[in-house]
Amino acid sequence: MATGKSSEPDKDRMQQLKAFDETKAGVKGIVDAGITKLPPIFVRPKKDPSVVGDSTVSNHFNIPEVDLAEYNGRRAEVIDQVRRAAESYGFFQVVNHEMPQRVMEEMMEAARVFHELPREEKAEYYSREMATKVRYFSGSTMYRWMFVDWKDSLLCDMSDEQFDPQQIPLVCRELTMAYSRHVHKLGVILFEFLSEALGLKPDHLINLDIAKGLTILSHYYPSCPEPELAFGTVEHSDPDFMTILLQDQIGGLQVLYQDQWIDIPHVTGALLVNIGDFLQLISNNKFLSVNHRVLTKKQGPRISVACFFRPSLENCSRVYGPIKELLSEEKPPIYQETTVKDYVMCHYKRSGLEDLKLHMK
Ligand code: OGA
Ligand code: NI
Repeated sequence: MATGKSSEPDKDRMQQLKAFDETKAGVKGIVDAGITKLPPIFVRPKKDPSVVGDSTVSNHFNIPEVDLAEYNGRRAEVIDQVRRAAESYGFFQVVNHEMPQRVMEEMMEAARVFHELPREEKAEYYSREMATKVRYFSGSTMYRWMFVDWKDSLLCDMSDEQFDPQQIPLVCRELTMAYSRHVHKLGVILFEFLSEALGLKPDHLINLDIAKGLTILSHYYPSCPEPELAFGTVEHSDPDFMTILLQDQIGGLQVLYQDQWIDIPHVTGALLVNIGDFLQLISNNKFLSVNHRVLTKKQGPRISVACFFRPSLENCSRVYGPIKELLSEEKPPIYQETTVKDYVMCHYKRSGLEDLKLHMK
């Protein structure tokens, strides 16, 4: 079986991937057809080539919580919570934020309604073209990594100022736009705290345009007949500045901490936040973009909505490098500068931040 990036894709497998792609019916289409065994294209490699070392699963750790209740009167405390979380786990649950519960529930429902549309209606949106700003797809990395995640995704890349909401499927348009406004507001607040946690002025990060673009990914993980053989989402870090994730009660998301996988449980009313690669880069490794993955389950569908904060790939020519104010003789820059687009391309080739490391003397 061809799995690693260096092995020649075998022809048979390529044909199977193509055939799956051409159905435009996604993983849900396979499940609806009533299979009981996992098709080979979804069988994960015996050893995922991206896994460093033999990570085990642990239940000794819990990711931190950041409580935003009346945050204006508790700024120092909140900044401290944010700093600790961003430096250690790279992930935290945000509770008592101002996003209404109703908006969160409606976004989840909108995601479900889209993915449960009749096959023909969804198929219109099926595309792997990066330039298509609203599209639905499965296995975003399958031709590169020759392995397909057990999930379907609807992507709405709103990062260009000219983004036209009319492109979003009508069944989820209004709720997705409403959610995007609330999540953007929360993102701005969090970037202010993250800025201060770095010892910078509250608006420092925002002034780097990092809250300018949003991409919303609504994921649908159908129930899986042989969960131990597949991945919902293979191990990765996020190629953005920050991700805000809404997840349902089903579970399956895990984060790598001290070389152990830990489960991230659903917390009612909470939003999950993680630091992306660009924030690790500009913070010169003070904040960590941590690997995470999603396991599959018999129980399903699982729904999650990931909101990526990242400026437009096409229209942001800005170069990002370690923030000057954070550098000193003892803390030289760890990374070279890059544009958003160059880095994202490098991420999709499965290299990532390692490729931007400057050689230290
Ligand atoms: C992602 C991601 C996790 C999830 O979209 O990058 O990690 O729970 N999603 O779907
Ligand atoms: Ni992710």
